[in-house]
Amino acid sequence: MVCNEWSPSSGRTMTQRILLIVSGGIAAYKSLELVRLLKAKDMAVRAVMTESAKEFVTPMSLGVLTEDHVYGDMFDLKEEREIGHIQLSREADLIVIAPATANILAKMAGGIADDLATTILLATDKPVLACPAMNVRMWHHKATQRNILKLKEDGIHILEPGVGAMACNEWGKGRLPEPAEILAEIERVLVEAQTTDEHPLLTDTTRTINAPDLSEHNLFGHHVLVTAGPTHEPIDPVRYIANRSSGKQGFAIAAAAARAGAKVTLVAGPVMLPTPAGVTRIDVETAREMLAVVETTLPVDIAILVAAVADWRAADEAVQKIKKDGHAPAPLRLEENPDILATLARHGQRPGLLIGFAAETEAVLDHAAAKRARKGADWIVANDVSGDVMGGATNEVHLVTAAGIEDWPEMTKSAVAARLIERIADALAGR
Ligand code: CTP
Repeated sequence: MVCNEWSPSSGRTMTQRILLIVSGGIAAYKSLELVRLLKAKDMAVRAVMTESAKEFVTPMSLGVLTEDHVYGDMFDLKEEREIGHIQLSREADLIVIAPATANILAKMAGGIADDLATTILLATDKPVLACPAMNVRMWHHKATQRNILKLKEDGIHILEPGVGAMACNEWGKGRLPEPAEILAEIERVLVEAQTTDEHPLLTDTTRTINAPDLSEHNLFGHHVLVTAGPTHEPIDPVRYIANRSSGKQGFAIAAAAARAGAKVTLVAGPVMLPTPAGVTRIDVETAREMLAVVETTLPVDIAILVAAVADWRAADEAVQKIKKDGHAPAPLRLEENPDILATLARHGQRPGLLIGFAAETEAVLDHAAAKRARKGADWIVANDVSGDVMGGATNEVHLVTAAGIEDWPEMTKSAVAARLIERIADALAGR
């Protein structure tokens, strides 16, 4: 079967497209389990095999699991006519090489393109994650280490191999990480790619030529404030109250606002996310710090408060680590934190457009509408966080405004961000 559409397995919405390149090593069998895990996460997977990979797993097994044609031949006219190597290299959200042999890493580092896999890797403008697997001595060889360093410099993500017994009866570093670990790294890189929208493998010149016009800069001249992430409320020097917010949605909104030409200030709680291009970021830890920093950014034209601010903090923060003393622990007394959204709503320098988020686990729309009125926000973006939204890559939201409620379909957090920014630009333009 050859098809241009990425094959959905069950009619469900595929959120991310992975192009999996399997090169020839004994660990190639793990690629089958990786495909199964990716499909279980509703990702669409298309596979490319090198000639030597076919000595370890068959195209038939990969094809059955990916539910797609398995690509392999650079000079197959049928493959090239129906889906060329350039298209293969561009239509994925992420290219994963698992296992990546010393040989394919060396070719990548040298920019060699002598088969379909390496040609795709040279032609792509998408993020690439390589998962090396090889004999321990090959891994530690200066040539391999030089290539790994070069690839990292070039912006290739490298998942370090594991340490353990090898198929060749040696022991050491070089094992392909387990498929679950590769999956976790894939999810991490996808999120990073979503929040940065970088084309890491292209030089600046090619980036300018190839980059799509991401915006009409319709927020140019506006200052946008975004809060994102959780806050941490210390109990003592080593313990704190926190929540599951990842910061991804807020970072994606800051990135989209910057792409739309706005001046963007992002006040971020403790998260491990890269700062989006064109965004001024100020890191804070607690709710009170977040409020203080937010107030210093005023006046702003638009404030989008996405942070999952902790509602409570410890009333008596201990200066030293609280020790067990054989008795029941002292009760943890809590004190309410300031509400940043409500404070901005009553502020003398109230932003022209004040937008809050409402994280709800039940009666989402009722709670969101009540929150809008109670806090004095213009708009509330309501989301149901009863599933795995916090930390996940997608979000299904409802926009609650004075005019009513808009239901948006489930989409990636960066798509939600882009749509919200577009909606704001329309509102500013009176549309
Ligand atoms: N918010 C804030 N300051 C707080 C708490 C929340 O600015 N101390 C903002 C959030 O950034 C978000 C909105 O208020 O934009 C709603 O946050 P949410 O956690 O859903 O609501 P809560 O105020 O915590 O209400 P509840 O816990 O009753 O759902």
